[in-house]
Amino acid sequence: MTTPAHFDKHLAAKVKVRPLEPEDSLAHLTYLLHRAYKQHADRGIKSLAAFQPEEVTRKRIAGGECFVALYMGKIVGTILFKDAARTALDGVGGSTSIPWFQRGDVASFSQFAVEPEHQGHGIGGVLMQTVERRAAATGAAEIGLSTPEPAAWLVEMYLRHGYRVVEHVRWKETNYVSAIMSKALRSPAIVGAPGLNGQSIPAK
Ligand SMILES: CC(C)(COP(=O)(O)OP(=O)(O)OC[C@H]1O[C@@H](n2cnc3c(N)ncnc32)[C@H](O)[C@@H]1OP(=O)(O)O)[C@@H](O)C(=O)NCCC(=O)NCCS
Repeated sequence: MTTPAHFDKHLAAKVKVRPLEPEDSLAHLTYLLHRAYKQHADRGIKSLAAFQPEEVTRKRIAGGECFVALYMGKIVGTILFKDAARTALDGVGGSTSIPWFQRGDVASFSQFAVEPEHQGHGIGGVLMQTVERRAAATGAAEIGLSTPEPAAWLVEMYLRHGYRVVEHVRWKETNYVSAIMSKALRSPAIVGAPGLNGQSIPAK
């Protein structure tokens, strides 16, 4: 997939990121995941998040810190953060057997999605900044993720954001090879304030 010609990143400045609250609808969040990950399903990449029922969303969220991006009062994006201890304990995407995530100093993120009509406006970048800052604040040396290797533009996006491929894995539940990607973090003092609690975070 090629990068859309006219990315307008100004919308991201109007987006607020905050932790998921108990009154937020998990049904809405689950359908947001389905809508966002459909682009992969349409290309034959069977990502768990494209089909998972609300119960699975609930279970996955319980294992980490879920952040949501709000635009005009509506949840339009989400990302799930796990600190390094939780990542080592639970793994990512249900697998506890990935050596990179067992190191104990690697935080992670998953369930990363933006409403299709709002993609390409920098909201994903704001969510990534949020978890990277959270990872640094919790003392992690690295933040990692799993992404479908056939989704080349995603791998390229993470490479542009300073991630590198550290492993490959084939999940039982999916039909593709995932790239495990990771980024070394600087100390919280250098990275700066977390930018949470409903503050807007300017896009790059
Ligand atoms: C990945 C995702 C969350 C990014 O959200 P977003 O709001 O579109 O992201 P941004 O607008 O901040 O763009 C982030 C980068 O992706 C690139 N990008 C976004 N959409 C793209 C597309 N359709 N094609 C190519 N590149 C794209 C942008 O160029 C940008 O690159 P840059 O930061 O180097 O300039 C969103 O595309 C999505 O929900 N995808 C489906 C679910 C998914 O794949 N999740 C990640 C699984 S690992």
